[in-house]
Amino acid sequence: MSDDIDGAESAGAGRVTAADAEGQTPADRGAWNSRFGFIMAAVGSAVGLGNMWRFPYLTAEHGGAAFVILYVGMLVLLGIPIMLAEFALGRGTGLSSIGAFKRSGGKRWVPFGYLFVVTGITILAFYSVIAGWVSRYAIAAIFSGFPSDPSAHFGSMASGLPAMGFHLAFMAMVIVIVMGGVEKGIERASVLMMPLLFVLIAGLAVWAATLSGSGAGYSFYLAPNVSELLNPSTIAAAAGQAFFSLSLGMGALLTFASYLSRDSSLPREGGTIATADFGVAFLAGLVIFPVIFAFGLQDAVGESTVGALFIALPEGFASLGVAGRVVGAVFFIALLIAAVTSAISLLEVVVSALIDEWDVQRKPASIGAGIFVALVGLWPAADTNALGVMDAVTGNIFLPLGALGLALYVGWVYKNPIDEVAMGAAPGVRRWLKGWLWLLRFLAPVLLVAILAMGIGGVREAIAELIGG
Ligand code: PHE
Repeated sequence: MSDDIDGAESAGAGRVTAADAEGQTPADRGAWNSRFGFIMAAVGSAVGLGNMWRFPYLTAEHGGAAFVILYVGMLVLLGIPIMLAEFALGRGTGLSSIGAFKRSGGKRWVPFGYLFVVTGITILAFYSVIAGWVSRYAIAAIFSGFPSDPSAHFGSMASGLPAMGFHLAFMAMVIVIVMGGVEKGIERASVLMMPLLFVLIAGLAVWAATLSGSGAGYSFYLAPNVSELLNPSTIAAAAGQAFFSLSLGMGALLTFASYLSRDSSLPREGGTIATADFGVAFLAGLVIFPVIFAFGLQDAVGESTVGALFIALPEGFASLGVAGRVVGAVFFIALLIAAVTSAISLLEVVVSALIDEWDVQRKPASIGAGIFVALVGLWPAADTNALGVMDAVTGNIFLPLGALGLALYVGWVYKNPIDEVAMGAAPGVRRWLKGWLWLLRFLAPVLLVAILAMGIGGVREAIAELIGG
């Protein structure tokens, strides 16, 4: 079957894809039980360390409210449109990223599929190290309480053997879940823990408001420094964060959408996911900034990317005695679950590619890919500067580059993207989709090229730190 015929079919009404041609029915690939299941999994993928670790640290690093404003702009201008592009390509072809390009007439675009796999491996490798720290804090809160000097404590556990151990344990957990394909288990966990996480963070935000000295935190977080709005590195960081936090630009949501049925409304699901994701990030800021300023921890935050979550917050918990220990334990456990549901989607990009393209069974694919990622992760576990480089390279380069590929491909090459998105959506949506396509074709590529150019500075800085330190 030629690619062209296949592509025409896959963009049409019936989902006849290479999956059938190769004797692999969509049922073999798995499918969501319900619309709710998909939303929970996608929200689970989006909500993670990006919201509670990356968003606050970037906000702190880039001058506060101006970053938040740019971030919201990037969510609307690039995030949601690219998300719809991933959805259209994934659901339309019923395949994971490499196959989605290959079998919809885009053979030459397949390198982007490989880029997605490389990005998934790189992000998961350092993501797992941070999730290891989170596990460590959760365990400490339960068994021994938060350390009295979180800064020294963090320094002693962030890299080296303990960090490696916790990273490997976290990867083992992710492998087991992806291997079982137990969407049900993870769906169930997400359904319980995501709302709990939300309630907890909202509760913490209320608590943070009662701290004396919190006002300075709010003004830092919410009163924009206008000159930062034009700072190229801030703009690039905001765009990278929009992709990172929404799990975009590397085929994670594309892959999830490939397990989706045609009666779901892609714009509606996209809106729900983006709103939930931004809501959690914004609330996390309402917790972290008041705490930082109330405890006078600005220096700890300014110096490193981890200060807010791993130093300032534990310090706040520790000051609350037993109650703080309980809340802190629940907080870090919920955060760990959020990290697990995101990590699963990262590994799934690699695993689904092995399954769809190389006919590997799910089990060996999960184990092989997982072990590979675990080995790569030993480097950021040994050296936090390496972690910084991997974070900067993926956020500033790989994700925007992947997004550029998706915008150009769905905008110019993919057949009938508007029909695909309109399917299952409310009739009035069509009008907006013309604007969406225009955005993908013209505005997004221009913005993304600029963002890539501006993001190189951040990568250079991270590399200089790696070499210098
Ligand atoms: N969105 C996740 C988070 O915010 C991270 C992630 C990035 C997951 C890319 C999948 C793909 O933590």
